Amino acid sequence: MRRKLAAGNWKMNGTLADLEQIEALISAHPDPSVDLLLCPPATLIHPAAAMVRDHPLTIGGQDCHAETGGAHTGDIAAAQLADAGARAVILGHSERREDHEEDSECVRAKARAAHAAGLMAVICVGESLAQREALNTLDIIGGQVSASVPDTATGENLVIAYEPIWAIGTGRIPTPDQIGEVHDFIRARLERRFGAGVGRSARLLYGGSVKPDNAATVFAVSNVDGALVGGASLSAAEFSPIIAAL
Ligand code: G3H
Repeated sequence: MRRKLAAGNWKMNGTLADLEQIEALISAHPDPSVDLLLCPPATLIHPAAAMVRDHPLTIGGQDCHAETGGAHTGDIAAAQLADAGARAVILGHSERREDHEEDSECVRAKARAAHAAGLMAVICVGESLAQREALNTLDIIGGQVSASVPDTATGENLVIAYEPIWAIGTGRIPTPDQIGEVHDFIRARLERRFGAGVGRSARLLYGGSVKPDNAATVFAVSNVDGALVGGASLSAAEFSPIIAAL
């Protein structure tokens, strides 16, 4: 039985003053049956991790470098995230694939580095609207999953987030059938490559315009083990009802 996971991605938002949202989240959700992961910007990882030390909420990064260290100005190694208190890292988000031209091979190398540092990798995949309209969604997702997930994946250290690019921050959301089709497809791909153990244990999240009013519908879809939430994770008041719907 896979544990439900609610993950928040603050993207490039948040300052020290916003740590009070984490405090509010902790007090609103003592429910130990749902795993909570919050990925603030790198500047907040250490103070956030110190705040949640005794609570069932973990802190993650939003990216890491594939190398363990060296001359990479502005980048952060997976072990440095872990050292700051992170337990997970989001990799291959479409905003990084686009803004930083990261391809799936790059994502796979980063995921391998994350696993070596003991971090859970939340690997994002998703199609553009043009790709969906051209009926290429499953081809795109299949290619991204195959190339982005490293052989170091286990049932515990691998999470895949399906995030259709056209649903991110737009208020548009796929139908339950569209979400279910992709999640069932990813599950089958993982089972085929890794066998039933890893294939059935890795968690699959849906991401893209998840809000309090649509969360229950999304979570009712087969093979949806939780959500990767962007905008609505910035405030505890909006994130809490989403977590409660899990
Ligand atoms: O990582 C989160 C996703 O990009 C979803 O963002 O909930 O603001 O649409 P959103």
